[in-house]
Amino acid sequence: MFTLAGWTALLAGLTIRALAQDYSTSPPLYPSPPTQGTGWEAAFAQAEAFVSNLTLEEKAQLVTGTSGPCVGNIGAVPRLGFDGLCLQDGPLAIRQATYASVFPAGLTTAASWDRSLMYLRGLYMGGEFKGKGSHVALGPVVGPLGRAAYGGRNWEGFSPDPYLTGVAAEQTITGMQQSGIQACLKHYIGYEQESQRNPSLSADNVTIEAVSSNIDDRTIHELYLWPFANGVRAGVASIMCSYNRLNGSYACQNSKTQNGLLKGELGFQGWIVSDWGGTHAGVASINAGLDMDMPGPLSYSGDQNSSFFGGNVTQAVNNGSVAETRVDDMVRRIMTPYFYLQQNQYPPIDGEEPALNSNFPPYDYQFTLGAANVEVRDGHAQLIRELGSAGTVLLKNVNNTLPLSAPQTLGVFGNDAGDVVDGLYFSGSAFQNQYGYEYGNLPVAGGSGTGRMSYLVSPLEAIKSRATQDGTLVQYILNNTLISSAGGLSSILPVPQICLVFLKTWASEGYDRIGLEPDWNSTGVVNSVASHCNNTIVITNSAGLNVMPWATHPNVTAILAAHLPGQESGNSIVDVLYGTVNPSGKLPYTIALNASDYNFAPITNSTTLVETEDPNSWQSNFTEGLLIDYRHFDYYNQSVAFEFGFGLSYTTFDMSGIQIQSHAGNGNGSVGALPPSNPIVPGGNPSLWEVLFTVSVTVTNTGGLAGAAVPQVYLSLPQIRGEDPTPLNVLRGFDKIMLQPGESQSVKFDLMRRDLSYWNTMTQQWMIPSGPIGVNAGFSSRDFRQKTQLTVVT
Ligand SMILES: *[C@@H]1O[C@H](CO)[C@@H](O)[C@H](O)[C@H]1NC(C)=O
Ligand SMILES: *[C@@H]1O[C@H](CO)[C@@H](O)[C@H](O)[C@H]1NC(C)=O
Ligand SMILES: *[C@@H]1O[C@H](CO)[C@@H](O)[C@H](O)[C@H]1NC(C)=O
Ligand SMILES: *[C@@H]1O[C@H](CO)[C@@H](O)[C@H](O)[C@H]1NC(C)=O
Ligand SMILES: *[C@@H]1O[C@H](CO)[C@@H](O)[C@H](O)[C@H]1NC(C)=O
Ligand SMILES: *[C@@H]1O[C@H](CO)[C@@H](O)[C@H](O)[C@H]1NC(C)=O
Ligand SMILES: *[C@@H]1O[C@H](CO)[C@@H](O)[C@H](O)[C@H]1NC(C)=O
Ligand SMILES: *[C@@H]1O[C@H](CO)[C@@H](O)[C@H](O)[C@H]1NC(C)=O
Ligand SMILES: *[C@@H]1O[C@H](CO)[C@@H](O)[C@H](O)[C@H]1NC(C)=O
Ligand SMILES: *[C@@H]1O[C@H](CO)[C@@H](O)[C@H](O)[C@H]1NC(C)=O
Ligand SMILES: *[C@@H]1O[C@H](CO)[C@@H](O)[C@H](O)[C@H]1NC(C)=O
Ligand SMILES: *[C@@H]1O[C@H](CO)[C@@H](O)[C@H](O)[C@H]1NC(C)=O
Repeated sequence: MFTLAGWTALLAGLTIRALAQDYSTSPPLYPSPPTQGTGWEAAFAQAEAFVSNLTLEEKAQLVTGTSGPCVGNIGAVPRLGFDGLCLQDGPLAIRQATYASVFPAGLTTAASWDRSLMYLRGLYMGGEFKGKGSHVALGPVVGPLGRAAYGGRNWEGFSPDPYLTGVAAEQTITGMQQSGIQACLKHYIGYEQESQRNPSLSADNVTIEAVSSNIDDRTIHELYLWPFANGVRAGVASIMCSYNRLNGSYACQNSKTQNGLLKGELGFQGWIVSDWGGTHAGVASINAGLDMDMPGPLSYSGDQNSSFFGGNVTQAVNNGSVAETRVDDMVRRIMTPYFYLQQNQYPPIDGEEPALNSNFPPYDYQFTLGAANVEVRDGHAQLIRELGSAGTVLLKNVNNTLPLSAPQTLGVFGNDAGDVVDGLYFSGSAFQNQYGYEYGNLPVAGGSGTGRMSYLVSPLEAIKSRATQDGTLVQYILNNTLISSAGGLSSILPVPQICLVFLKTWASEGYDRIGLEPDWNSTGVVNSVASHCNNTIVITNSAGLNVMPWATHPNVTAILAAHLPGQESGNSIVDVLYGTVNPSGKLPYTIALNASDYNFAPITNSTTLVETEDPNSWQSNFTEGLLIDYRHFDYYNQSVAFEFGFGLSYTTFDMSGIQIQSHAGNGNGSVGALPPSNPIVPGGNPSLWEVLFTVSVTVTNTGGLAGAAVPQVYLSLPQIRGEDPTPLNVLRGFDKIMLQPGESQSVKFDLMRRDLSYWNTMTQQWMIPSGPIGVNAGFSSRDFRQKTQLTVVT
């Protein structure tokens, strides 16, 4: 079916191609599609009745943040039995809390490639938010996706691969919301760098606007929007719009992305909330789809009644610049998931919260506080320990150096090995920088995505404790300056049989990374230890990916990327080092040979930009299109150190017998165009989620130890004439299976219509390309063991 919109897009498409990409405008898309409460019908009716009882002032109150005990607060309406809303950070823990768990980061979770652990992490985290009386958890993160290797918040999200990120988001949201809390999927959209994420003032007091992410239509659909579609399909209650601009228009007032892509195309039924301070106008944002303004007041310390929303909403309705039906829709969007999750019966807010959120002056509204310091950890440490190990990737293991087997002597080196000395909470100004702290293990990184640890098990503590079982002599030096200086290791006698070097890489919201090697002279430290010790094992705790110049050093016999494991850090790594857990993590990103190999998707930042007086100077053109991470390295046939999807085990696996089953009637042999659908359900056109084919392979454990394999399926779609490059291979299926030595198992991967489609900019629809589609199954993006093809459209 060819709609008017389709023709308009076709004409626009032709113009774009003739004149090259024009990023100076974002197409207007009004009005904002109202929610129908699809999937939440009973709750929608409750929300409708609730809204019908509100005054205009109360409606304005419901959509505007206010001072209160939580990081985000909506005031109560006691006469209707509504106690208000408490929103809290963040993606790996309830940050503003005592007696709460600190879970592995999103990055670690992605590296596990384990759907059930992803789900359980979400479920347990959700339980802790609920136990503290928090209605909304500000997570998970799928933006940044990880376009730029230097991005300061990539670790809060999952992976630069949208499929893996989409699955991780879906599992996390499902778990969180099953516990009774509302998830808030963030940051929407194109938020791929920290530099100039917010406006600044020039030397002459000109407002320099936030960086504009200029993304073409196909790329936003196939990369950055993809995981949001998974989240919407999983029924996510809320989505946070981001700080950056898109094609020159602020994300929280961009009608194309909010009204068009999210509420229109994806059929999102919940509410959009601004990132804190990400609202830059009232009427424009509301009409462009923003439903809630946070934190509400224009400043934390200023007049609490002055907001882009609040009194301005009342005024805008009264003067006709915003329709009251739109405000009703905003409130319905907020109240529907609240009723759906039965949050009208909810635990009170933990009495310690006001002390943990001291941003605000005294409150204007009543909030019901319960007991302080409620214990919510509930035995979650076991899952945290397990996921910490599962997200650890074994990259090198010469001559089976690992697992350790009752070594006589061990050396432990590096400032990441020991206990922290700067406190258990990495938020606040001391941690808001590019450097972090020198001494102590890095279990999670900094900023609003951190957690307040109730304890930390450091690697050294866990190693010392485990070593007593074998009577191993453990020697250690944790001072990197000393380790890397001449003669710095002279106190180590005898030379250990095995030397463990613990390295770390800090990152924090607000700052992009300044390098890709681990911090604190890491390469000097490894070289120094490895020059003395011919059996050196390097372990990294990192907020993002690292390049590893020492990876081929002959004395570096094993490498483990342990990412950010959370509070059980030391136990998680000891389980892998000693083989209690057979490593099964796989890289959720590519480790290139050199830092400069990532320059195809740079952070936009330069002295000229920092000193500019031009409000619009910060432009980030996503000219690499779809070719980020492995898609780039594969397309340009570039060697890498360790590819996406790679990770060793203490056993070995093989794969055989690829087969494809076609689900007759579900599109095979039909045309590639998406069947039209009305209405759109959460996740978009339901046909996109129909399974068209099932791929199966047999995986065998060919080694001598039990272990988990991660078989992966990549599709090779044809190039589209007249379009930017299509990646050579894209991940479209994975599973994690435990196998005993010699055991075989058949594994199935369902391919949905969306998995086989590309975004056609002319027709403005998903389309299955004509010609054969390659199907490659293997154990990484560069280790294909079984190949075949399928054809949908001849
Ligand atoms: C970004 O693309 C626009 C074209 O839309 C071009 O004018 C501009 O110079 C580009 N900016 C950078 C930094 O490459
Ligand atoms: C941004 O501009 C590009 C190029 O004109 C266009 O393809 C894309 O749809 C625009 N995106 C948004 C969100 O405005
Ligand atoms: C709102 O008013 C209606 C009657 O119009 C009533 O049935 C309903 O219970 C009220 N809802 C709430 C939440 O108070
Ligand atoms: C951007 O670069 C400037 C130096 O050119 C640096 O001072 C600033 O910290 C960078 N911005 C961020 C957010 O990293
Ligand atoms: C910029 O604004 C600040 C604060 O209002 C003021 O102190 C300063 O003099 C202004 N600078 C210029 C160059 O106008
Ligand atoms: C702000 O609004 C509240 C609620 O309407 C009111 O009680 C309070 O007096 C106002 N504060 C100021 C400073 O105007
Ligand atoms: C309305 O918004 C403006 C900023 O656009 C702000 O200065 C003003 O205080 C707001 N009014 C109210 C009542 O919040
Ligand atoms: C690994 O084992 C082989 C064969 O025993 C030996 O030649 C080689 O030196 C060993 N490599 C290391 C790094 O120990
Ligand atoms: C670390 O070692 C260097 C070089 O020996 C020394 O100057 C420094 O004081 C040491 N730091 C601490 C915290 O002991
Ligand atoms: C880094 O390590 C090297 C040894 O490989 C050493 O020469 C250098 O002084 C160290 N740098 C710092 C800043 O400690
Ligand atoms: C490897 O370790 C041995 C000590 O066992 C040392 O003699 C040799 O120089 C080291 N090799 C390198 C390249 O550092
Ligand atoms: C490694 O070093 C130890 C002494 O620390 C030595 O006994 C052993 O032979 C060395 N192995 C190799 C392959 O150099």
